[in-house]
Amino acid sequence: MSNSSETPFLVFGAPLIGEEEINEVIETLRSGWLGTGPKTRKFEADFADYKGVDPENVVAVSSCTSALYLSLHALNLQPDDEVITTPLTFCATINSIIHAGGKPVLADIDPHTNNIDPDAVARAITPRTRAILPVHLYGRPCDMQALRTVIRNSGHDIAIIEDCAHAIETICGGEKAGTMGDFGCFSFYPTKNLVTGEGGMIIGKNKEHVARARMLSGHGLSRDAWKRFGSSGYSHYSVEEPGFKMNFTDIQASLGIHQLAKLEKHWIRRAQIWEQYQSGLKGLPITLPEDFVNTAQDRHAYHLYTVKIGSASGRMRDDILNELTTRKIGTGVHYQSMCEHKYYQDTYGWTPESQPHASAAGRETLSMPLSLRMTDADVDRVITAMHDIFR
Ligand SMILES: Cc1ncc(COP(=O)(O)O)c(C=O)c1O
Repeated sequence: MSNSSETPFLVFGAPLIGEEEINEVIETLRSGWLGTGPKTRKFEADFADYKGVDPENVVAVSSCTSALYLSLHALNLQPDDEVITTPLTFCATINSIIHAGGKPVLADIDPHTNNIDPDAVARAITPRTRAILPVHLYGRPCDMQALRTVIRNSGHDIAIIEDCAHAIETICGGEKAGTMGDFGCFSFYPTKNLVTGEGGMIIGKNKEHVARARMLSGHGLSRDAWKRFGSSGYSHYSVEEPGFKMNFTDIQASLGIHQLAKLEKHWIRRAQIWEQYQSGLKGLPITLPEDFVNTAQDRHAYHLYTVKIGSASGRMRDDILNELTTRKIGTGVHYQSMCEHKYYQDTYGWTPESQPHASAAGRETLSMPLSLRMTDADVDRVITAMHDIFR
């Protein structure tokens, strides 16, 4: 395979930003209103429409981390209140629980899907469990039906907060990701399926909770900036609660409005790339993701394409990662198990052995580049490189 100096580096998750987004950002810059304002409201309304919920049930915020934090904050967690989540996630999931005053409790993954295992959740529930925080990892839907049954059987009042950072287009049992629990939290980080630079969204079942999250995202003021400084003239505000600075801006919305309009078209392309890997990598001594059949009832968002480099391959995951980098192919690891991190080990006594499936996955998993900027030839370049490496 050629690796000449002209071969460009394949950036792992480069976003595709079109002229529509660029022109909208320019118009916003010229408009004089850069902060939270009318374009943010439009983006929220469009997102609500995409999800089939009322606009009063959504609020755009600065990131998925903010969305998770504000959702957990609504639960008024007390010390020792427990929130059960997966060890195979980004640290933002765990940190949000800690900052909201709760104790993160782990339930191991199902190694076939890498999503949280409902049976492990059932074993982790205690009288202190206040919420379950499933992550639709890579865009593959969690078994929400089974999680609801587990909660019902527990006899406890337990909230569900869905981490949909990877799952904007995901559908599970006919329900759209983020609408199944009490809260759904989305990310618009640069590598995500919908990109606004940084950004996030909350969908909440309870309109009062959403209104409170909106207020808290803007310092806890009774009026947001658009209402204080908008065309109806200045009006006074009061501090209702000590809030945070977690608001979304019209510059971000300028990207989001057009990214959302293209989401379904982009999803078709993501699915093609995913399937191209799935057939092109067959036959290698590695574990490919489980096939996924999309129906009206269930849908994969195809955020990431990950393989497992296990002992049967005779190779270490990090060697493969380095070999791909040498061939100018960007990769990622999603994720190391949270049990591998020193802070959580020291604070909660977590060990890799306590969550064996997540630990194994975290050591073996490798994400191939999946970006809308990739051509079929780019994907073939990655597939050929993998065959080369294992030859
Ligand atoms: C599963 C998961 N949850 C939460 C986040 C946090 O998202 P954000 O960067 O928008 O705060 C990420 C980001 O990568 C993620 O992958």
